[in-house]
Amino acid sequence: MTIWRGQFLAAAAVSLLLTGCDKPAGGPRAGGDTIKVGEFASLTGSEASFGQSSHQGTLLAVEELNAAGGLLGKKIQLLTEDNQSQAGQSATVVRKLISSDGVVAMLGEVASSRSLEAGPICQQNKIPMISPSSTNPKVTQVGDYIFRVCFLDSFQGGKVLAGFANHTLKAKSVAVLKDVKSDYSVGLAKFFTDGFTASGGKIAVEQNYSGGDKDFNAQLTSIKAANPDAIFVPGYYTEVGLIALQAKQLGIAAPLFGGDGWESDVLSSIGGAALEGDYFSTHFSPDDVSPAAQAFVKHFKEKYHAAPDSMAALGYDSALILADAMKRAGTTDGAKVRDAIAATKDFHGVSGIITIDANRDASKSAVVVTIKNGAFKYVETIAP
Ligand code: PHE
Repeated sequence: MTIWRGQFLAAAAVSLLLTGCDKPAGGPRAGGDTIKVGEFASLTGSEASFGQSSHQGTLLAVEELNAAGGLLGKKIQLLTEDNQSQAGQSATVVRKLISSDGVVAMLGEVASSRSLEAGPICQQNKIPMISPSSTNPKVTQVGDYIFRVCFLDSFQGGKVLAGFANHTLKAKSVAVLKDVKSDYSVGLAKFFTDGFTASGGKIAVEQNYSGGDKDFNAQLTSIKAANPDAIFVPGYYTEVGLIALQAKQLGIAAPLFGGDGWESDVLSSIGGAALEGDYFSTHFSPDDVSPAAQAFVKHFKEKYHAAPDSMAALGYDSALILADAMKRAGTTDGAKVRDAIAATKDFHGVSGIITIDANRDASKSAVVVTIKNGAFKYVETIAP
């Protein structure tokens, strides 16, 4: 098996990707012949891999929708803004998309903390927002205009990963190493801990870091002393790669495992052989045999010359769900589109079948993968 996504991280790719998103001449609200949809994403910075993948999936969906005639007699125009993976920037770019560009709906973000930053602005302006892949429960609790098309961390941590540690790893005691700056990491650590201890498991030790840290030796030394059967690292790929390397350098043999935040080909370029035999849970595998998934994988490969990952699949689905809702609403009016998204039922997305529930969330299966020769290998699917 090859690594899921190859050559996407060249800096040049960013500018190429953005060619579909040029602003119309004539300023705000110009271009009434198109439906303007905003997208905010981490196209550069520490989670660039998330933003680029998600954007590629979203853009492919918009291009396919437009090729098939567009929506409500118009073409969809995707306006994409980069938040540089930085706190504060999502609020800035989302305000701009709404007030200067006049978008009628918002797609984003991958990282929960950044969706939480933009959510209140969309809610206040009555602009429906669909997060493709933010899994922290708080994201959609912001208000009735905020939706997601992925599962939640209560499921990912409390059921998928706690069950995996129990049944597959057969771990009795687990160390937890979380990122205190990330809503995602803090939430996932808690849901895992609750689920794992409820089924009789023990947390050997809990340690913290802050996203952006490079040296984890102090935390790993405490973890080594506690001698856990496995180490749970609910973080994003940049830090996870370094943690895996430094754990091996300290002579820690216990396997590491984590959640969807691990999923990036950059993970293996940082952690290399130190990650062999480790595990993580995520949303989508290009090995999924459903016809919708296979058609998506084929079209994605034709356009980008690499296989799609979870963020790409969920970005694609977020755009399709929005378009489907606008079609049913027959308008781009915020309140009516909101109601139509809320009424989404049994939508056959590429990442699974999507029904939006009363909390504006989706209930979906998760997959667990293991790392073999630097590539991600499918292990199992866990249903909600
Ligand atoms: N679920 C993560 C979060 O909420 C983001 C993520 C989604 C990362 C999908 C990788 C894949 O922060």
